[in-house]
Amino acid sequence: MKVKGNIEKYYHYAFPMQTILVTCNDPAGKTNIITLAWHTPISSHPPLYGISISPKRYSYKLIKKSKEFVINFIPYSLAKAADFCGTHTGKTTDKPCKTGLTLVSSRKLSAPLINEGYAHLECTLVKNVTLGDHSFFIGEVVAVSADKNAFTDELLRTDHIHPLYYIGENVYTTLDRAKRKTF
Ligand SMILES: Cc1cc2nc3c(=O)[nH]c(=O)nc-3n(C[C@H](O)[C@H](O)[C@H](O)COP(=O)(O)O)c2cc1C
Repeated sequence: MKVKGNIEKYYHYAFPMQTILVTCNDPAGKTNIITLAWHTPISSHPPLYGISISPKRYSYKLIKKSKEFVINFIPYSLAKAADFCGTHTGKTTDKPCKTGLTLVSSRKLSAPLINEGYAHLECTLVKNVTLGDHSFFIGEVVAVSADKNAFTDELLRTDHIHPLYYIGENVYTTLDRAKRKTF
């Protein structure tokens, strides 16, 4: 039996979605961190990655201006920091300082990586398209890096890395090796 859902929260049916931290810089080079669940690979050649950001976010303005951003894939152990970065604005809060996350230089951009993340995509902004109440930022992936032990033959080691996933509201989850099939 199916029950009628709430169309206002249609996107809850797409959850759990992997939750990432995106780093971006202000014009003075100060770094902000925003938590995002709405993001996706778009193209392999050229390598393009998309993130959906509301124009209400401080990060929206920063990325429009700096034209670059870093995607940081993070483990479940960073749920508290991710929730903090997703509930406070960089306009008034120094999120790197308050969360204690460690910023390290990226390879090609001014925006840094978050060292506690396990994989990173450095993106330069190709364009952004406003769709409804969010804007879809399309970035070209110009450099990638990951923890040495996070991947084997480009596959995530789910016995070792437990990515952070978001279920909605203030609820987070993860996956582990318990359910894994190889065909
Ligand atoms: C788990 C989680 C996922 C989120 N996903 C998105 C998202 O995909 N797009 C978005 O615009 N805001 C998203 N948010 C909200 C922003 O992270 C939040 O408004 C943040 O405080 C904005 O920071 P800023 O003003 O420093 O840019 C999410 C929040 C949480 C907690």
